Amino acid sequence: MILLNPGPVNVTERVRRALQRPDICHRESEFAELLQGIRQKLLKAFVPGAEADYTAVVLTGSGTAAVEAAVLSSLPTGKRIVVINNGIYGERISAMVGVHRLGVAELKLDWGVRLDPEKLRLALRQHPEVHAVAMVHHETTTGLINPVREIAEVVDSQNRVFVLDSVSGLAGEALDIAGAHIYMVAGTAGKCIQGFPGASFVLVRKGFMERMKSYPKHSCYLHLPHYYEDQERGSIPFTPAVQVYYAFDEALNELLEEGVANRIQRYKKAATLIRKRLGAMGLKPVLPSEFQSNTITSYYLPPGLAYQTLHDRLKERGYIIYAGQGHLESKIFRVANMGALTEQDLEGFLAAFQQVLETVAVRS
Ligand SMILES: Cc1ncc(COP(=O)(O)O)c(C=O)c1O
Repeated sequence: MILLNPGPVNVTERVRRALQRPDICHRESEFAELLQGIRQKLLKAFVPGAEADYTAVVLTGSGTAAVEAAVLSSLPTGKRIVVINNGIYGERISAMVGVHRLGVAELKLDWGVRLDPEKLRLALRQHPEVHAVAMVHHETTTGLINPVREIAEVVDSQNRVFVLDSVSGLAGEALDIAGAHIYMVAGTAGKCIQGFPGASFVLVRKGFMERMKSYPKHSCYLHLPHYYEDQERGSIPFTPAVQVYYAFDEALNELLEEGVANRIQRYKKAATLIRKRLGAMGLKPVLPSEFQSNTITSYYLPPGLAYQTLHDRLKERGYIIYAGQGHLESKIFRVANMGALTEQDLEGFLAAFQQVLETVAVRS
């Protein structure tokens, strides 16, 4: 099956084969070596030239675990985090804050609308109790890229901490983490890195990790300083998904061989092809092109075509697309182009899409 959903993604045979490496105990040196390799490769890929200033913490859990770990670990007693919410994943960060009764403060926008950084500047000036700002890099809800550099500049100039959910952004979008002084970035193995779901990570500025050690613990499983202290000793606090880590390590080898910039270009090229051809079939994108990411395009459903019909006809032909979420559920569909997709896969999908549209038109 060709997956055109935003993760899990199709992986290469090389990554799949890595799952079959020998059974090992996570308290042995073999695991410590694997873990340190993953951590170093993450830094090499995402903070090149600033590896000494950052540390990578690896978790067993999906992307949500990494985001929640970053959010929960970022707050000293009595301080708050403000969430920039313009989609389902921004909303999820607010829910994390709410569940832990840490006081939800939001800058909420319609989906598809970006925050004016000056509004954030004003809010931070007015609210000294706000210690951190959380935002989603690539809002998977619509495929919207938020203005990370501009927001990071405001957060930095106001001496606050920036927590970025780049679960669907890392390796798909350019991101200068060190240059923008971003303190924490959450990511996952199972999207643009082209590994399997089940392993995720947080890139943390080392100085901030030291500060977080004195912050209160809001979670037993998701307290980042706990992971950091253990991982610095080659250990890990809880039983990791060892085989998924093997594949993660191999996916990182592939990423570094391809080069992050080349991976981004490959995705961009795929998205451009999809957009050109679906546009020619009359499909209307939800976002203006300047807001669109390199890996997801959301389209309005053509009049009279229900998502389920479109999905099922494409699935019969071997392609999985993705539904809209929330209030857009019955109005849009999404096509992602993350993963080890070939030009042949994309051409096959576009031909299948054309066929489905023709069949539906004939039937209607
Ligand atoms: C931006 C963003 N954040 C967080 C998540 C949550 O990741 P997971 O489903 O792996 O928990 C996703 C998943 O699609 C996402 O796109």
